[in-house]
Amino acid sequence: MSATQSDLMQRFELDLPVVQGPFGGGLSTVQLAATVSDRGGLGSFGAHARAPETIATLTRELAAATSRRFALNLWISDHDPGGERLDAAEFDRAWRVFEPFYRELGVERPEPPTRFHPSYDAQVEALLEARPPVFSFVFGVPSSTVIQACRQRDILTVGTATSVAEAEALDAAGVDAIVATGAEAGGHRVSWLERAEDALMGTFALVQLVADRVRAPVIAAGGIADARGVRAALALGAQAAQIGTAFLACAESGTTDAHRAILFGPEAHRTRLTRAFTGRLARGVRNRWIETFEARQHELPPFPVTAWFVSNLRAAAQAAGDTGLVSLWCGQIAPNLRHRHAAELMQALHDGL
Ligand SMILES: Cc1cc2nc3c(=O)[nH]c(=O)nc-3n(C[C@H](O)[C@H](O)[C@H](O)COP(=O)(O)O)c2cc1C
Repeated sequence: MSATQSDLMQRFELDLPVVQGPFGGGLSTVQLAATVSDRGGLGSFGAHARAPETIATLTRELAAATSRRFALNLWISDHDPGGERLDAAEFDRAWRVFEPFYRELGVERPEPPTRFHPSYDAQVEALLEARPPVFSFVFGVPSSTVIQACRQRDILTVGTATSVAEAEALDAAGVDAIVATGAEAGGHRVSWLERAEDALMGTFALVQLVADRVRAPVIAAGGIADARGVRAALALGAQAAQIGTAFLACAESGTTDAHRAILFGPEAHRTRLTRAFTGRLARGVRNRWIETFEARQHELPPFPVTAWFVSNLRAAAQAAGDTGLVSLWCGQIAPNLRHRHAAELMQALHDGL
C-alpha cells in the first residue's frame, strides 16, 4: 500500500482499508458496526431516520460496544420540494395513491404526522453534542459552521459524491474523506447537485475521475464485496472501499431473514433503480411494488412523504410474509455474496488484502 493510502488508514485508525456502509431506515445495528470496527475496519450506523433525542444514547451504545472508531451517518437534505408539509387536500391525494395496498394488507388510513421525517438541523446539533469519532453524510454538504464545529470537536467528516462536481464541492468544503459511489450500489442514489437519474456514473469511472481531482482521500463505493474488489478500488486511486450490500446480507444487520434469503438467491440478479419506495431513486430487487409504480412514478408524492406512507405498511407486509410490497435494497454485486456473518466477511477481507 502506498504512503497516501496509509494516510487515510492512519487518520481513521484503520487496520484494513474497509468501511462498512451505513444503512438508514432501521437496517443498521450497533452489533454490525462494532464487529467491523473491532476487526480494523470503520463500522457505520445510519441514523437519518432517528429522532434527534435518540442520537446521544445511540452514540454512547456504539462507543460502549467498540473501543475503535465508528461513523454516525445522516442525510443532509431531509425533504424534497413539496415534501415537507402537506395540506389536507395534498395528504388526501397522496393517500389515494397508496390506499389499495393499505386495504390489501388490512392497514388503517394513518393520521398525518407532525413531521414526515426528523429534522436534519436538530439531528446534527445532537450529533455535535454526542461527538461520535466520525460523521458521514449523504445528500449534500454541511454548512461551514458544522464542518468547523466537527474540526473543533475532533469529529472526522466523510461526504458522499455521485459525480465529479459533488466531489469537488465536498473537497472545497474541507471534508476529511470523500466516498465516490457508483450507480451499482444498493440503496439510495444520494445525488444533490443533479437529479439522481442524471448522475448514474459507475464506480470504475467515477473513482478515477474523482481521485485525480480532489485533495481529500477517496473511498470507493458500489459493486465491491470482496478483497478483489477492494484491491481494484485501491488500484483506481481510492484509499479504501465502502461495502454495503455484503454487510447488509450478514446476520448482524437489521434486515429480515426474507430479505437476506433474496440477497443470496436468484432474484438478486434483477435489481432496479426506482423512486417507488421513498420518492428518491434507490436500487433494490425488482418486485411487485416496483413493477406497479414503474409507469406511475409521476403519481408518487415527493420524499419523505412516499417513504412515510410505505413505512407504515412494512410491518403488515412482513407479517404477511409478502416480499412483493417491501423494499429489498440490493446492489448489483449481490450474486457474488458468500458470507453470512460480518466477522467472516472481515476475516476474508483481511486474508485477501
Ligand atoms: C439498505 C441500504 C441502506 C443504505 N443507507 C445508507 C444511508 O443511510 N447513508 C449512506 O451514506 N449510505 C447508505 N447506503 C449505501 C451504503 O452505505 C454503501 O455505500 C453502498 O451499499 C455500497 O455499495 P454496495 O451496495 O454495492 O456495496 C445504503 C445502502 C443500502 C444497501
